[in-house]
This record gives sequence, structure tokens and C-alpha cells, in this order.
Amino acid sequence: MKACSKPNVPHHWSNFYTVDAFRTSGGEMVEQLADFLAESQDKLHDCVLPFTPPDSRLAHWKSRLKNNAAVESGRLWKENLLEEVLAQSNRLHDPRYAGHQVAVPLPQLAWLQAATALLNNGMAIDEMGPASSPMEEAVMQELAQFMGLGPGASGILCHGGTLASLTALLAARQRKASGNSWKDGSMRPCAVMVSEQAHYCVDRAVRVMGWGAAGTVKVRTLGNHQIDPEALQESLEEATAQGMEVIAVVGNACTTSTGTFDDLEMLASFAQQNDLWLHVDGAHGAAQVFSERNKAPLKGMEMADSVAMDFHKMLGVPALCTGLFYRNGSDAYAAFSQEAAYLYENEQEEWWNLSKRTFECTKRMLSVAVFGIWEAHGHKLWESLVDRLVDRAQTAAYAIAQRSSWQLFAQPYSNIVCFRLNGADNAALRHAMLEHGPHYIVKTVLNGETWLRCTFQNPLTEDSDIEALLDRLEEFAE
Ligand SMILES: Cc1ncc(COP(=O)(O)O)c(C=O)c1O
Repeated sequence: MKACSKPNVPHHWSNFYTVDAFRTSGGEMVEQLADFLAESQDKLHDCVLPFTPPDSRLAHWKSRLKNNAAVESGRLWKENLLEEVLAQSNRLHDPRYAGHQVAVPLPQLAWLQAATALLNNGMAIDEMGPASSPMEEAVMQELAQFMGLGPGASGILCHGGTLASLTALLAARQRKASGNSWKDGSMRPCAVMVSEQAHYCVDRAVRVMGWGAAGTVKVRTLGNHQIDPEALQESLEEATAQGMEVIAVVGNACTTSTGTFDDLEMLASFAQQNDLWLHVDGAHGAAQVFSERNKAPLKGMEMADSVAMDFHKMLGVPALCTGLFYRNGSDAYAAFSQEAAYLYENEQEEWWNLSKRTFECTKRMLSVAVFGIWEAHGHKLWESLVDRLVDRAQTAAYAIAQRSSWQLFAQPYSNIVCFRLNGADNAALRHAMLEHGPHYIVKTVLNGETWLRCTFQNPLTEDSDIEALLDRLEEFAE
């Protein structure tokens, strides 16, 4: 055997672990971020999104990499890096932000996120999350009860609604499909029913499970984009006749494009009658469960087998942070059963070893923010946030209805509203706004036509911002 010699590694890294460097860079950053927040909230920038074509931005960042000379000792990145990242980013805290469905984070959560980044407890097993694992179990149990899922309910936190829906459908497969797919692979192609307006994450999960495009049975919707109850039975029979084993039905709460909620009560009874798993994709709208005023469209969600709810959409938590809830907490273990001698001592249900229930092995300490808010405010903070955001969409709908040249797709029940200017090229309007601002909104295509789309994510958006948005779009049209 070769003799071991003592390694001699240079100490370049050691400058970056000093407490002084940590304290100094943190102090500077707090000031810089607070200024950024103030400027954004005060609408001091010309545009929410500093628009430049993607290629020019790529060229810019590439050119920076050409000058990658050493920086001052103790500093991990160049002095102006954060300044440029801030300058070139989409400013969600600007009240004129009404674009995609991403939370405008409650600013103080940035510090909790920083703290957990420093701790970096990996969460896969109890020893790597001695604080955050029991915090997760405790808060998820309470939230599951609050959502009315019943005494045996619980859940896990994971990185995003897309992953949550895949995980839920993996559990559904173990509980409902014939054979043991986890162990032996699928015996025959399975299928999942969902409305044709569902987020692509359902279709993607189905394809990942190996059931191809045909594995997603897209059920017809009504004019308002709600799943058509009459089409459900038809679609089920058709899929079964084609040899598919239908295992689950997914309800939208709500749809991404228009914020439409499926009738979950009806879906729950359909699922029960046909022995299907009911998963609710509540990535966006399940958050309305916290609001007395806005929870009605979720009636029936409490009967679901699983529910995905993003904390990083309407609930002000920085991305990614999703709750996946199971009415029967044990179902969570069905999704994965993995022997891993280096992690687990057995294959039993152990709430404290979270990776027995999550796709991720290492995951961020997601529970700390959720626990912190729930402990300090119960459902009240989230209720007021949800109410304000839905109110913004309803205020916009009212403002649109007051202007004769505008058309509303549907009265909003969430914070999403779709509308268009009659006789105008609405895709061009959106593009003009993208390029010239100051507002940031998005668009969608409904029944082959382009509609403008706002998701009101920022509670600081005032009525006057909404009127100014419509004025600006009219100005472009002229
Ligand atoms: C209904 C719905 N499901 C799933 C997702 C995906 O969630 P995430 O971005 O957290 O993966 C979205 C995102 O907009 C959504 O609206």
C-alpha cells in the first residue's frame, strides 16, 4: 500500500470563512437591499422590468466573466455584482408588478432565508434537520387540520408545485394502480383525468411516469374553463375502453390562465364513485383556504386525497416553498420506498426522516418561514394577504367594466384577471408594455385569441396603479 503523505493545500479559501468578512458583507447588503426595496415600493424606476433582449443580457454577463481577476481579499464576489443583479432584475415589490404568479415576498423573510442558508441543514434525515424537521411535521399537521383534511392528515414541504403534483401522483399510483409499479414497473398504462385547462405539470408528471401523452385524459371544459361534469364519465369510459387504467382525477384550484376553480365537491364524489384518487392542484388557489371571504370556491377540497399548495404564490413566501398535504398521512410514504443503508435504518414510516416522503434528498429548511408565520399570526396574516390580492383583481375587473372599449374574460374569484381591448392587437399591447413599461403584465391565449393577463401579487398595488395601467395600454393602442 502506498504511504500516505500529509496534503498541503493552499489557504485561499480561508479568507472567506472569517467572521469579520461575513459581518461586513452582511451589513453592506442589508443597506443595499433596503434601498432597493424602498426604490421599488416608491416606484422610482421607469419600468418594473428593465427590458433588454435576452442576447444582449447574455453578452453583458459573458463580458463580465472575461474580467475574472482576483478581488479584494475577503470578498467573495465583486463589489458591484449585487448592484447589477438588482438593477437588471424584475422588481416584484414595485406596486405596478402584476405579472406571473410569484409571491412578492414579505421582505423580512429574506433574513430567515439567509439564516437557513447559513445553517444549511440538509433535511433529508432527522440529524440533518434537528430543528427544521420537527418544525415541518408540526406545522404541516396543523395546516392540514386547518384545511379540514381530517385527523390523520399531514404533509411535507417541497420545492414547487410541479414536484408536489408529481409526488402526489406517485402516491396515487401506489394506492390505486394494479400491481406494484414502484417495484416492478407499470403492469399496464395508467391514466390521470384532468381538465384541458390544467397546468402542464400534470401532463409532465404523467409522462415522467412513463404513460405517454395518452396517459393524460384531458376532460372538456365549460365556457368559463371549469371542468365539464358531463364530460367526466364520458372521458373515463373512453379511456377505459382504450385499455387505460385510470387511477386519478386532478382538480384545478385554480387554473393558471384564468384563475378558474373546478367544482371540487363534484370531483370528490366522482372520484369516490369510481375509486379514483383525487388530487387538487391548488398550487395557486388553495391559499384561499385561509380567507373566510374567499374560500368558497375550494368547497370539497377537504375530501381530496392530496392537495398541493404553493406558499410562494399568494402567501408571500420566497420561492420555492410548496406544501403537499395528504388526507391520510401514511399515503406520503407510498410514493417512495427506498432502501438506503447510509440514510435509514429501516423501511418503516418515520416522520423525522423526511426524505422517505420527498423526491428531494437534500432540501432547504423550508419549514422555518412557514412555521414562523403560522406561530406568530395563525391564518390571519395569510387571510389579509389573500383578501387584498383578490380584492385587487376584483377592483381591476370593476375598472375594466367601467370602460366601454374593454372586455373582461370572467369575473375573478382569485387574484388572476384576463381582459382585452376590443379591436386592438392585444399581443402588441403587451409587447409595448414589456418594452416601455412602466407596468409589468403578461398575456395568455384563450380560445385562440390573445388576452392580457394580470396576477395581482403585490398588496401595495393601489386603485390608481390599476387605472394607470389601463390608461397606459390605451395610450399604446392609439
Ligand atoms: C395551477 C398550477 N399548478 C402548478 C404550478 C407550478 O407550480 P411551481 O411553479 O411551484 O412548480 C403552477 C404555476 O404557476 C400553477 O399555476
